[in-house]
Amino acid sequence: MPFAPIRTERLTLRPPRLDDVDAFHRRRDGPEVARYQNWELPYTRERGDASTARAVAMDGPTDGEGRSITVVDAEVPDHIVDDLVEPWYRAIGADGEIVGFVMATEVSDAHPNPYLWRFLVDRMHQRRGIGSAALDQFEHRCRDQGAAAVEVSWAEGPGSPAPLYLARGYEPSGRIDNGETHAVKAFA
Ligand SMILES: CC(C)(COP(=O)(O)OP(=O)(O)OC[C@H]1O[C@@H](n2cnc3c(N)ncnc32)[C@H](O)[C@@H]1OP(=O)(O)O)[C@@H](O)C(=O)NCCC(=O)NCCS
Repeated sequence: MPFAPIRTERLTLRPPRLDDVDAFHRRRDGPEVARYQNWELPYTRERGDASTARAVAMDGPTDGEGRSITVVDAEVPDHIVDDLVEPWYRAIGADGEIVGFVMATEVSDAHPNPYLWRFLVDRMHQRRGIGSAALDQFEHRCRDQGAAAVEVSWAEGPGSPAPLYLARGYEPSGRIDNGETHAVKAFA
C-alpha cells in the first residue's frame, strides 16, 4: 500500500526519498543523536546510503511493523525538520548588564549561510542602538566564517522588526517561513 503524505498545520510526513540521504547521514553521524542510539560512530556514508535505500524501498505502513518517514516543514518542503544544525548563541551585554540574546545556525557545509533564529533586546533597552550593534557584530562574524549571506524571518504587523532589517539591506525572498517573511542579506 503506498504511503500517502500526511499534512498537519506545520509539518508534512512523507515517504523517504533517495535525496534525503545527506540529512539522514548527518543525523545518524551526529554524536548528540548517536549517544542515545545503538550504532557506533562514525556512521559511514555507505551505511547511510544503504539505510536510505532500504527506507525508500519499504512498503507499508503495515500493522505492527515500523516504517521510516521523512518529516519536512509543510511550508518549506525542502527543509527536513530533524536535519541537524549547530546552534551558535551569545548573550548581548550593555552597560554591564545582559540585555539581549542572539542565536543562529553555525556556518557549516550543510548550512553555509547562517539563519538568525532568535534575536531580542530587552524592552527597557530597545531603540538605543543595541540591536543594530549586535547585528553588526553578528554579520561581521558570519563574513569572517565565510558565509556569503545571512537569513532571517520576521512576523509582520505592529511591533514587527521589519524596518530594522530592511534598513540594513535584508531583502524579502518571497518565501514565507511558518507565517513569517523570509529575507536574505547577501554580502557584497
Ligand atoms: C528587533 C530588536 C532586537 C531591535 O533591537 P533594538 O536594540 O531596539 O534596535 P536598535 O535600537 O538598534 O534599532 C535600530 C533601528 O531599527 C528600527 N527598529 C528597531 N526596532 C523597531 C521596531 N520594533 N519598529 C520599528 N522600527 C524598529 C528603527 O529604525 C531603529 O532606529 P531608531 O530607533 O533610530 O528609529 C528589538 O526591538 C526586539 O527585541 N524586538 C522584539 C523581538 C523581535 O522582534 N526580534 C526580532 C526577531 S526576527
